[in-house]
Amino acid sequence: MQVNATLPPQALADVLRTMPKAELHIHIEGSLEPELIFELARRNGVALAYPDVESLRRAYAFTDLQSFLDIYYAGASVLLKEDDFFDMAMAYFRRAVADGIVHAEVFFDPQTHTARGVPFETVMRGLTRARETAQRELGLSSAYILCFLRHLSEDAAFETLEEALPWREHFIGVGLDSSERGHPPEKFARVFARCRQLGLRLVAHAGEEGPAAYVRSALDELKVERIDHGVRALEDAELVRRLARERVPLTVCPLSNVKLRVFDRLSDHNLGQLLASGLVATVNSDDPAYFGGYLHQNFVETFAALPALQVREAYVLARNSIEASFAEASAKARWVDRLDAHFESFH
Ligand code: ADE
Ligand code: ZN
Repeated sequence: MQVNATLPPQALADVLRTMPKAELHIHIEGSLEPELIFELARRNGVALAYPDVESLRRAYAFTDLQSFLDIYYAGASVLLKEDDFFDMAMAYFRRAVADGIVHAEVFFDPQTHTARGVPFETVMRGLTRARETAQRELGLSSAYILCFLRHLSEDAAFETLEEALPWREHFIGVGLDSSERGHPPEKFARVFARCRQLGLRLVAHAGEEGPAAYVRSALDELKVERIDHGVRALEDAELVRRLARERVPLTVCPLSNVKLRVFDRLSDHNLGQLLASGLVATVNSDDPAYFGGYLHQNFVETFAALPALQVREAYVLARNSIEASFAEASAKARWVDRLDAHFESFH
């Protein structure tokens, strides 16, 4: 497909919004907007450390990953009932459809909730009902990926896996998130080996704040099929060649990377270099309620900041997102056909 057109900003923004695409890196707890945090706090009688929405929002000034995680886990403390999880997930699914997403693979962090005494079943019932409602009422395809918190122990991850097994058909895979530095992928090699035996799909955060070596060990020790973030892989030329050769997708989150100071400015972001190096990069929102926007906002701001990104890159990024998803081959083929039709006018 020849998509060499150069478009003015508004026309490019329209293309970015309406092109069919998948989102592969979104933490559902990171879609919890301050307004919903306050509503749920009121509904559940939970005391918050901030008096109002504005003061909570003002606290969203992060210096690194940990400074974000502290406030993100505090925000999740208002989630207690099945309906809370349902309301949170439905709000995200509505936003996803508005941004032209046709398929979303959504992370959830059960340990954040079970550690507070919320039963695994409560989390899963609310999320599952939302997923089914989004399919039925919004026509949105989605799937869940259970993330283990890497700052917790291997034993805790095994316990969470045991708890999750009765719900096996309600999530397609497992991931690894939370504090990266000091918690290398290999800490969870045995848990991931077990998940692999169970037929679960495997992904892991690596090379966000942690070094390129963590990307390599996620591939070698965990045998993951995608790398979440992976932007620091560019520091290792041999690793970049391998990622390109093996077509390992990277789920890149540009606004997140700036908010968490992985890059100083969006104009410093390496997404253009990742694509130019032949990597299967995708654009994602990570924790949109905390980082300044959902998927479309990530696309628009990143394309505005990086002039090398034009219509061709929009097509490649959307196509990568569909092909890197864990959806069935027939669904992927249907979405790629729709994507090609969408770009037909730029031949
Ligand atoms: N959990 C939620 N967002 C995360 C991120 N960007 N990195 C690691 N863990 C997370
Ligand atoms: Zn993430």
